[in-house]
Amino acid sequence: MRDTKKEIAVDESELSRQLEYMHIIREKNDMFEHETGKKKKFYSLAMGCQMNAHDSEKLEGMLDEMGYERTEEETEADFVIYNTCCVRENAEQKVYGKLGWLKHYKKDKPDTVIALCGCMMQQDSVLQTLRKKYRHVDIVFGTYNLYKLPELMNTRMESGETIYDIWQEHEEIVEDLPSIRHFHYKASVNIMFGCNNFCTYCIVPYVRGRERSRMPEDILDEVKNLAADGVKEIVLLGQNVNSYGKNLDEPVSFAKLLRMINEIEGIERIRFMTSHPKDLSDELIETMKDCDKVCKSLHLPVQSGSSEILRRMNRNYTKESYLETVRKVKEAMPGITLSTDIIVGFPGETEEDFQETLDVIRKVGYSTAYTFIYSKRTGTPAATMENQVEENVIKDRFDRMLNVLNPMIHELNEKMVGKEVMVLAEEISKHNENVLTGRADNNALVHFEGNKDFIGKLVPVRIIENKTFYFIAERI
Ligand code: 5AD
Ligand code: SF4
Repeated sequence: MRDTKKEIAVDESELSRQLEYMHIIREKNDMFEHETGKKKKFYSLAMGCQMNAHDSEKLEGMLDEMGYERTEEETEADFVIYNTCCVRENAEQKVYGKLGWLKHYKKDKPDTVIALCGCMMQQDSVLQTLRKKYRHVDIVFGTYNLYKLPELMNTRMESGETIYDIWQEHEEIVEDLPSIRHFHYKASVNIMFGCNNFCTYCIVPYVRGRERSRMPEDILDEVKNLAADGVKEIVLLGQNVNSYGKNLDEPVSFAKLLRMINEIEGIERIRFMTSHPKDLSDELIETMKDCDKVCKSLHLPVQSGSSEILRRMNRNYTKESYLETVRKVKEAMPGITLSTDIIVGFPGETEEDFQETLDVIRKVGYSTAYTFIYSKRTGTPAATMENQVEENVIKDRFDRMLNVLNPMIHELNEKMVGKEVMVLAEEISKHNENVLTGRADNNALVHFEGNKDFIGKLVPVRIIENKTFYFIAERI
């Protein structure tokens, strides 16, 4: 059993150590600004999932504290940091591509510091490649010691050497790191880290370690502070939120946590991701239904519709039990929207298995689906399974799947036309400065006329047109 008190003590001393390093670097940067009239700039890129995006907000918060200014232009940066993803191979290729480009860039600007962190760095093969071929990288760290950025930067400045600091596993959770939010009205909150599920295709449990839940008081404090800061919508993040709290000294279910968050004044919307279908409890369904602030949309990754493939994926549910869960969810909350993740071409997937996936798509009626071509990840059980499916077969299935999905999404969305909904206005459209984009309670993406004064407000609109992946609406 973990000693919570000890953990908090370690957290606090670790945080104050890092604050000291932030202070040291800030002084150096202030001096630089004083001498040159220029601020040092950082460029930060988060690849992959929302968890990474949120980790990058913390990295950016620390860089801000250290006196760096954000730039959207890599070519202006004194400090470049990529928070990497390794869930699929193409994400890794993107990083190597960028590093190739940075090599030339650094020839002209040798003082630029390049840092890499995140999931990809937890793999030995990647570290070997970096050491051999990408020696212009200055700082490398992983998923467990993100909070050490200030110390690593300081060590790099003092020693001038390349810093590799990769941990294999870590129990502690460091609270209260500074963070920069990209939006003032919505924020993500980690409720847990890591994953214990070991789906056979997935690298996440190897690079993010075992499940660790944050203490409910810490989460509630964070949400209260966000609410006091004007945040209206929060997204609770975890690889498998349904198993939140099971490893705490005093277990608390995710449903109970949701009820507590629902009581926090100022917060108007609560979303969460990701739910694993194997343990979506009746208690959670009831709670979602009861809590007015919990949005009526659910991300429930199915991955495959074939019970045999699901068994080999180690998903611990069948096609039938998944459909039964969906039935219960829809019965409790008619009008709820469902989204999903689907992998095509898992080893051994036959045409019949694929047809089962199409069948689930037809039966559920998803409003959004994130579709992936299976990507072989070295070190996972699926990578060495027999009968890897041929690329052209996978591509053909993928296209056929989209041909079923997209018309269904369009048809389902027709039901929204004419409805009056509340939209949280998020930002000005990139294509038209008189148009705002935002999300309805059920996560539908909505465009409507307006100006920046609406941003961050809940606006009543009527949906007038269905554009398949978004809607046009008018204010009422
Ligand atoms: N290949 C393809 N897709 C994958 N995912 C995870 N691992 C792989 C892989 N090896 C997908 C799953 C998961 C989403 C985040 O990424 O669908 O739900
Ligand atoms: Fe990967 Fe499965 Fe864990 Fe999701 S639940 S992170 S797919 S192992």
